[in-house]
Amino acid sequence: MAINILISDPLSEDGIYPLRQEKKLDLNIVIETGLTPDELKTKIKDFDVLLVRSQTKVTRDIIEAADNLKLIGRAGVGVDNIDLDAATEKGIIVVNAPDGNTNSAAEHTTAMIMALARHIPHAHMSLQEGRWDRKKFVGVELKNKTLGVIGFGRIGQEVAHRAKGNRMDVIAYDPFLTAEKAEKLGVDFGSVEDVVKVADFITVHTPLLKETKHMINKEIFALMKDGVRIINCARGGIIDEEALYNAIVEGKVAGAALDVMEEEPFVGNRLLELPQVIATPHLGASTIEAQESVAVDVSHDILSYFNIGTVRNP
Ligand code: NAD
Ligand code: MLT
Repeated sequence: MAINILISDPLSEDGIYPLRQEKKLDLNIVIETGLTPDELKTKIKDFDVLLVRSQTKVTRDIIEAADNLKLIGRAGVGVDNIDLDAATEKGIIVVNAPDGNTNSAAEHTTAMIMALARHIPHAHMSLQEGRWDRKKFVGVELKNKTLGVIGFGRIGQEVAHRAKGNRMDVIAYDPFLTAEKAEKLGVDFGSVEDVVKVADFITVHTPLLKETKHMINKEIFALMKDGVRIINCARGGIIDEEALYNAIVEGKVAGAALDVMEEEPFVGNRLLELPQVIATPHLGASTIEAQESVAVDVSHDILSYFNIGTVRNP
C-alpha cells in the first residue's frame, strides 16, 4: 500500500532526494504549500506523513482530523509550530532535524551582531538614497566587549565560538551549563540576571517554551547596561516585544537585530519603524546547505520509520 507524504512548506528538492529515489517503499509524495488551516485540515486525512518547515502550524485541530497520520517531520529545529501533546495523544511520532542548520543559524547571528555594531543595513540604504553620510554611521567594535548568550545549546555555543574569534568575552546562561563545562568551553557563566548585567550584546538561543516565553522582559531590561544591543535569531516571544520597544525608545537599548518575532510574517510590526532595529525575515536557516541538510535528515527518519520502525530524532 502506498505511503502518502504531504510536504506543506517549501523544502529543498535535493534534501528530499532520499525519498524520491526510495525503491523498497511505495511512496507517494505530494507538495502543496500555502494551504490555509481549513484546507490542510481536509487534506491531511489522506496522508500518512506530514513534512513541514516553520510556516505550517500543525495545531490540535489539524492533528485530530488526521485519521491516517503516523509521523510529522519538521525540517528544522524548533517544534513550537507543532502541538506535541495532541500528536502524542494520537500516537503520532514527531521528528525534527536538530543539528542540520546549527552552522547557518550561528553564522546568521554573527552577521546580525556585526551588522548591528556597524549600522551596515542603514548605511547601505543611505547610500542607495544618494547620501554619503560617514558621521551618522559611526559604530562600535566587538573586541573587548562582552557577549551574553542566553541558551547555550548547539547554536549558542557556535555563536560564542565565533564571538571569541572576534575577541569578545562571553558569558552564558543555560540551566544545563556547569562550571566545569563553561571552563572547558572558555566562557563565564551565571544566572540570566548575572549575564544581562555585564553584557554589551545579548543574544538569545533557547527554544520557545512556557518557561522561556518573555524571559527577556521589562524587569530583565531594567538590569541591563545602558546602550546594550539585543539579538534574537531564535524565536519570537522569548523577548517581550513591548518591553523591547520601550527599552529602545527610552534609550536603554542602543539597537536590536531580529530574525524572528512573535507574529510572522512580521511586516508592519512597529519595532521595524525604529531606526535602532535591523531585521531579517526569519532567514537564520535559509542557506542552501542548511535546507538540504535538514530535509535529508527528516527524509532519512521517514525511511527509517517505515523500513525498520525506528527514528533517530523523535
Ligand atoms: P538546542 O536545543 O541545541 O539549545 C537550546 C538550549 O536552550 C539548550 O541548551 C537548553 O538547555 C537551553 N534552554 C532551555 N530552556 C532554557 C531556559 N529557560 N533558559 C536558558 N536556556 C534554556 O537548540 P539550538 O539548535 O541551539 O536552537 C535554539 C533555538 O534556535 C531554537 O528555538 C530554534 O528553533 C531556533 N532556531 C532558529 C533558527 C532561525 O532560522 N532563526 C534556525 C535554527 C534554530
Ligand atoms: C528552526 O527552528 O530550525 C528554524 O526556525 C529554521 C526554519 O525552519 O526556518
